[in-house]
Amino acid sequence: METQRPLDQKHLLLSSSPPDKPKLMHGGNYIREGRDSNKSTWLLLSPETPDEVGSLAKFLSIFSSYGVNLSHIESRSSTRRLGYEFMVECEHGTGDLGATLAELKKNTGYLQIISRNYKDNRSAVPWFPRRIRDLDRFANQILSYGAELDSDHPGFTDPEYRARRKYFADIAYNYKYGQPLPHVDYTKEEIATWGIVFRNLTALYPTHACKEHNHVFPLLIENCRYREDNIPQIEDVSNFLKDCTGFTLRPVAGLLSSRDFLAGLAFRVFHSTQYIRHPSRPLYTPEPDVCHELLGHAPLFADPAFAQFSQEIGLASLGAPDDYIEKLATCFWFTVEYGLCRQDGKLKAFGAGLLSSFGELQYCLSDRPELKEFEPEVTGEQKYPITEYQPVYFVANSFEDAKAKMIKFSRTIPRDFGVRYNPYTQSIDILDTPKQIMNLLRDVHQEMDLLLGAMDKL
Ligand SMILES: [Fe+2]
Repeated sequence: METQRPLDQKHLLLSSSPPDKPKLMHGGNYIREGRDSNKSTWLLLSPETPDEVGSLAKFLSIFSSYGVNLSHIESRSSTRRLGYEFMVECEHGTGDLGATLAELKKNTGYLQIISRNYKDNRSAVPWFPRRIRDLDRFANQILSYGAELDSDHPGFTDPEYRARRKYFADIAYNYKYGQPLPHVDYTKEEIATWGIVFRNLTALYPTHACKEHNHVFPLLIENCRYREDNIPQIEDVSNFLKDCTGFTLRPVAGLLSSRDFLAGLAFRVFHSTQYIRHPSRPLYTPEPDVCHELLGHAPLFADPAFAQFSQEIGLASLGAPDDYIEKLATCFWFTVEYGLCRQDGKLKAFGAGLLSSFGELQYCLSDRPELKEFEPEVTGEQKYPITEYQPVYFVANSFEDAKAKMIKFSRTIPRDFGVRYNPYTQSIDILDTPKQIMNLLRDVHQEMDLLLGAMDKL
């Protein structure tokens, strides 16, 4: 038995996103790219009253008086407020932007600072994807390419394996939202590796996995060709998940930052690798591979309560400060990756890092590790090792309970707006004005009417 546990930290790197071009996050699904975020900050501002005359001249005089150059000015009708708003790009290093912002705050009805370089500006909102196709941007923001192996990686000295890894990284790198998910012809050797992992893990699932995993697994065998002698295609699995909960998979070429990885969950999108571990050590992988994704993660994303729980972590992460991203990523680690739950008085595993590790799946249910109740405030602070089995696991009462706790926790995140996923447009609604909240209330009212109508018929 392999004693070293799979190291799964590459689904989560506790760092913030790398600087990148800013996008202006307003105007429904239409987003404007800044030219170079290292040199500019975008502002969105509106007059104090919709019928204010000469507001643009007033704003321009404020920029001018503090010596801030504008490289872009645009006016348009506002979806937040009655009337119109302005979008401006301020060049860095051309004046006192801080003083300008302070002055603008006193003279605007609405002011939002949008910047990927939010660290340079404490009042800025970190960029986050507003529509599902924005996730394409993550492809070129990976922190390391999937073909770059560390010197202690089992495949480091294997040129054939390295070439194969580059092939997988390249197809993920070139993938764009809306395209069919790439089909892969796995080699005999790769299928044999999968077979060993599949055989060993499926022997443990009936006794070690949570009931939701055991409920879904036969459906994956039936619908997605989960077999010892076949590596399922992520397109089949993604389509299956979409039918169950709306979750989809998309290939990822390498390591994403925690911020970007979690943001995908807000759209019910899970970034998945497609390559497989090195054949020399079939029960060990130093990073997530197709076995980890399809055996560990995929079954649970077909469960409605688990899918909602995962999406809550994603929604909480949008625009959150860095320290909260770290807390959320740690909560993700101790639930979606290494979570345990209590079912019918017995401890079961639901974390993908456990359900894809022959060694740790047995260890986690033994009397050796320490167990704590899942509480986001506490769990989010827990330190953990990434090169050995976890000394501490957190136990959830149920996915519903974990979700309720995550929602409560997300309310403590300092953020000036609420977010809601709109499944019709596959985009994020920002809730920060009475008008938007009224629109949401109208939607809820409509749902209530539907519910009352259905109850009348019972
Ligand atoms: Fe994972």
